[in-house]
Amino acid sequence: MTRTRATEAAGAAAMAAMRHAYAPYSRFRVGAALQAADGTVVSGCNVENAAFPSGTCAERGALSAAIARGLRDFDLLVVATEAADPTPPCGMCRQALAEFAPALVVVSVTTGGKEASWVLSDLLPHPFTPASLAHS
Ligand code: THU
Repeated sequence: MTRTRATEAAGAAAMAAMRHAYAPYSRFRVGAALQAADGTVVSGCNVENAAFPSGTCAERGALSAAIARGLRDFDLLVVATEAADPTPPCGMCRQALAEFAPALVVVSVTTGGKEASWVLSDLLPHPFTPASLAHS
């Protein structure tokens, strides 16, 4: 699958997931789709909670769903929002993603048709890794 086709499939999945987001407090709906090395696309959305810190981000939702399906090797993450400009994953999600895919390509798209992309290692240059634990 070409990068463009992969981006299209994951982009459609991220947009679809965004429409299921539960974000009554922030009104900031987010969808995310992870493309695994075998081509499988797994999506997630943000799920907020009346106890605000209990809410979860779309990216970590997608990651949890993918891990539960036995996937651990990821090529691409697409994030979808209705924001004016594309938004990158938050810091906590960057750290969670870096555990599995430090060189992940992250594409952020908006319903308005804007797009930006980064490499995770640029978004989080010094993640805490499994190897970091060995330094204790
Ligand atoms: N959110 C995400 O789902 N992903 C991000 O990368 C940034 C923020 C969610 C969390 C919260 O539900 C809402 O967006 C506003 O912060």
